[in-house]
Amino acid sequence: MKDFKYYAPTEVVFGEESEEQVARLVKKYGGTKVLVHYGGQSAKRSGLLDKVCQLLSDEGIAYVCLGGVVPNPRLSKAHEGIELCRKEGVDFILAVGGGSVIDSAKCIGYGVCYEGEVWDFYLGKAKATAMLPVAAVLTIPAAGSEMSESSVITNEDGDVKLGYSNNLSRPKFAIMNPKRTFTLPPYQTAAGVTDMMMHTMERYFTKDDDMDLTTDLAEALLRRMKTAVFEVLKNPEDYRHRAQIMWGGSIAHWGLTGCGVSEDWATHQLEHELSGMFDVTHGAGLAAVWPSWARYVMHENLSRFVRFAVNVMDVPNDFTDPEGTALRGIEAMERFYHAIGMPINIKELIGKDITDEEINEMVRKCSRDNTATCGGLKVLHAEDMKAIYEMARG
Ligand code: NZQ
Ligand code: ZN
Repeated sequence: MKDFKYYAPTEVVFGEESEEQVARLVKKYGGTKVLVHYGGQSAKRSGLLDKVCQLLSDEGIAYVCLGGVVPNPRLSKAHEGIELCRKEGVDFILAVGGGSVIDSAKCIGYGVCYEGEVWDFYLGKAKATAMLPVAAVLTIPAAGSEMSESSVITNEDGDVKLGYSNNLSRPKFAIMNPKRTFTLPPYQTAAGVTDMMMHTMERYFTKDDDMDLTTDLAEALLRRMKTAVFEVLKNPEDYRHRAQIMWGGSIAHWGLTGCGVSEDWATHQLEHELSGMFDVTHGAGLAAVWPSWARYVMHENLSRFVRFAVNVMDVPNDFTDPEGTALRGIEAMERFYHAIGMPINIKELIGKDITDEEINEMVRKCSRDNTATCGGLKVLHAEDMKAIYEMARG
């Protein structure tokens, strides 16, 4: 079992009335001039943005707004935010939206407190030592950024998508009202559930498989998400199951399912090249890569894949054929992805054949010109990345 540290400082306020507390919480965490950061249309259309702004005004808290964050959030928007925060003397950033808005808020938070170029952090050239406090009013359960230490930004200059992790960026508070997720389209709902399940699976497929409690928690989470997603796809206004999913997204990525185990994250790194290059939805990209990754690495810990098949995917255990059981688990996952409208290969994801040149470019970026590896269960070198992308072509 691996030694571990556990740190999850975000205050969570969950439920139908949770937004009412936004101004009190901003004050509690020292905000006097707030940047209200948001995405495209959804938070405006639902009235959430107006409501948050009104609540801040009612408490006498000054704010400025910056919208326009797109999925796979861009560095240029963060630059705009950094400039605005400096000009306006902002001391607190409130993200109203999903992972993209929260990640953009984190990037702005780093940038305001840094004299150099904020992209340096994502390139690994510098480590942040200070940032503006960030908090979230969550509208889509998926990325888990509302409690995580990471942010993922796309630099349009070269379509490079990179993540940066630092505990400083864990949001001060996260407001979660499951009702706000009723308006999510089915594709975003399914991609969100795929992402949170993958956050759990990136920690589940490990060689440190002696931390039983962590494994039990992970399996419970995966099973619950698998059931709940069908309920909300059938009935988008099913509060009970929207709530399970909203809480599941946070649990999946605040570290609880990683205690005592080493983690993998290869599927995420391989996917980031896909969303960097094709601007696809992150969760869908994960579904397109995972089955191929799983088949490529399963012999590194076959019993883990058997356990997944049996305990999560309800595959009967054929004790005479562990490899067959493991493979049937992966096939069952593919059927699940299809049932919720997710792709299981790159062709289904991008709607066309990927070219050899595109695969080579993704391998080049993912391996940082053959200088970096990814993955933990099996460490992947450039040739492994290429083999997995080839298997995932479709
Ligand atoms: O822009 P608007 O109009 O708000 O529409 C958004 C967006 O198009 C829409 N949406 C959000 N809430 C809605 C809604 N539509 C209707 N009703 C609502 N209540 O959903 C679309 C997707 O939003 P986005 O924020 O992009 O989704 P998500 O939370 O999945 O975030 C994805 C980003 O997070 C990164 C991903 O790589 C991707 O860039 N990740 C961040 C992580 C982290 N910081 O810890 C970890 C993850 O592994 C992930 O990499
Ligand atoms: Zn993810």
